[in-house]
Amino acid sequence: MKKITLLKLKYYKKKHYKYSAVTAYDYSFVSIFKSKPVKAILVGDSLNMVVKGNKHTISTNLRDIIYHLKCIRNTTASCLIIADLPFICANRFDNALKSSSLLLKLGANLIKIEERENCLKSIIKRLVSKSIPVCGHIGLTPQYVNIISNYVVQGKDNFNSELLLDNSLSLEAYGVHGLIIECVASYLVQRLVQLLSIPTVGIGSGPATDGQILVINDIIGILDNKDKLPFFVKSFFKESNKIDRFVYLFSKSIEKGYFPNISNVIP
Ligand code: KIV
Repeated sequence: MKKITLLKLKYYKKKHYKYSAVTAYDYSFVSIFKSKPVKAILVGDSLNMVVKGNKHTISTNLRDIIYHLKCIRNTTASCLIIADLPFICANRFDNALKSSSLLLKLGANLIKIEERENCLKSIIKRLVSKSIPVCGHIGLTPQYVNIISNYVVQGKDNFNSELLLDNSLSLEAYGVHGLIIECVASYLVQRLVQLLSIPTVGIGSGPATDGQILVINDIIGILDNKDKLPFFVKSFFKESNKIDRFVYLFSKSIEKGYFPNISNVIP
């Protein structure tokens, strides 16, 4: 299978083809994606929680992202590889440039940066001008947990939704190659997806985005506390007893428009 490129994701958007992306942190999991329809792998800072057992993603360090990127980069799966820029690396340009360049050198194709209310505006602009392929991440951005205070759906009131709209359009204008939209009210996401020409990938943001992403541990249903399953997660474990089969089911249910459904959406 041919390697998925940024151009290909733009093509999918143009053709209204829905696709899946999944987080992954190690080689054997990523080998599941070989010959599966998953289009992108994210070495997400969620590893700080699901792999290392910390409460937040904020303390993720670059060393850990590098370690897990190295664990997955030799995959023969055709997926685009996205690496997260940890909070600690994102708020100073020289640090952001050095860290992003290193992640690209080690095999990432795209660098994901969480952005809130245009805080990192000048840094993202400058990274793009240095040819760093950046993917923005807006909405419920876990790296800003101390500002957001609570893990709640974003964009539900006028003020917040205008900010999100402005932030997304600015990111596109700065030249980012895509946007991950996390837990944003679905009516607003619909508007955003129509206004933006860059690919959008959603998590907990309804069915309108071009792609959908989930944390692999959630798809499988390996959770610390099963009673606390987030509303936007569907565990495919009940539908198959083979891990590779439920990654396939996850992807197919997105392509066919069955996921996310009404129970996974905040209007
Ligand atoms: O780190 C991560 O896994 C993420 C996804 C949930 C989008 O940011």
